[in-house]
Amino acid sequence: MQETISRILEKENLTKEDLVVLLSANEADTELIFKKAAQVKKKYIGNYTYFRGLIELSNICSKNCFYCGIRRGNKNVHRYTVTDEEVLKACQYALDRDWGSIVIQAGERQDKIFVDRVEELLKKITDLSKDKIGVTLSLGEQTPEVLKRWHEAGATRYLVRIESSNEDLFYKIHPQDELHNFQKRKQALIDLQNAGYMTGTGVMIGLPFQTLEDLADDLLFMKEIDIDMCGMGPYIEHEDTPLYEYKNELIPLEERYKLTLKMIALLRILMKDVNIASATALQAVNPDGREEGIRVGANVIMPNITPIKYHSSYNLYKGKPEIVPETDNYIAQLEKQIAEAGDTVGYGELGDPVHFKNRIK
Ligand code: 5AD
Ligand code: SF4
Repeated sequence: MQETISRILEKENLTKEDLVVLLSANEADTELIFKKAAQVKKKYIGNYTYFRGLIELSNICSKNCFYCGIRRGNKNVHRYTVTDEEVLKACQYALDRDWGSIVIQAGERQDKIFVDRVEELLKKITDLSKDKIGVTLSLGEQTPEVLKRWHEAGATRYLVRIESSNEDLFYKIHPQDELHNFQKRKQALIDLQNAGYMTGTGVMIGLPFQTLEDLADDLLFMKEIDIDMCGMGPYIEHEDTPLYEYKNELIPLEERYKLTLKMIALLRILMKDVNIASATALQAVNPDGREEGIRVGANVIMPNITPIKYHSSYNLYKGKPEIVPETDNYIAQLEKQIAEAGDTVGYGELGDPVHFKNRIK
């Protein structure tokens, strides 16, 4: 078997069938995949990991995704919104530590109050950071006009996870209505590229009904859309959500975790110079999860810098590391683990995806 895997890894273009074989690789063979991914990372983007300070701006969401703990329909959630002052304080924290960027994430809202507020907030962040911080948004689907406004106000990167590139599976994990539309979600990625954003997407791994073929297609989807950034993590069931009823049909959490590491490695091999985040959900399964992600090809870690009092309300899934003390001690520990994974932290750099620079050339 080792031979087949080695031979596939030497190919210039991986097909869906190749990817399925690689995704099914046993533990020893998986090490070959990880090794290859580490080589590709070193060659194309260097051994740097970037910190992005994650600010979970609000858990108010107009959507009702079947897997997500902060879905509109979950009444057991205390809804919050972080104030501008608190956001700016968190930005200052990132600036003081020379982190090149922040990510502003929230549930999806398209109402005027929210859109205007984000625009004003972005202007304040730009004033504070004087372009020393790249701002990534993860605020769901928006109209081209809104995307343009937010871009002009200072956001340069945007993440919209496709969640699954298989339309049938997409509709098994989302309600079938106007708000949750696969084609619109796909179009959102194209709108982002047209608006000039460095564009990111991602999927969940180990969803009920999901096959290795689906995951291979997810990887090819990302290549076809030509994304610049990716964040993917294991699906973790949440008891207050409709998808919880399939909890007995899931592959074990440890398998979802291993499959996520494989997906990271394969995306690195497939797309070479994109930014790949080592998702927080990996850490929810294994305390060293984010560092393992770095070892197998990821180059971004997003420490949560939301004020601690809000952490427990942003429970997308069960076991989300509740209060992660992103203190200086914790960061020193993270740095140590990143060094052990063979990387240096890229301080004082925006850490834009090399892929984007190549894409717009
Ligand atoms: N398990 C893992 N990831 C989840 N997300 C939402 N709910 C879950 C869950 N139960 C992810 C989705 C979403 C991102 C913000 O969090 O991929 O895009
Ligand atoms: Fe809202 Fe995002 Fe959760 Fe869906 S995944 S319910 S859009 S926060």
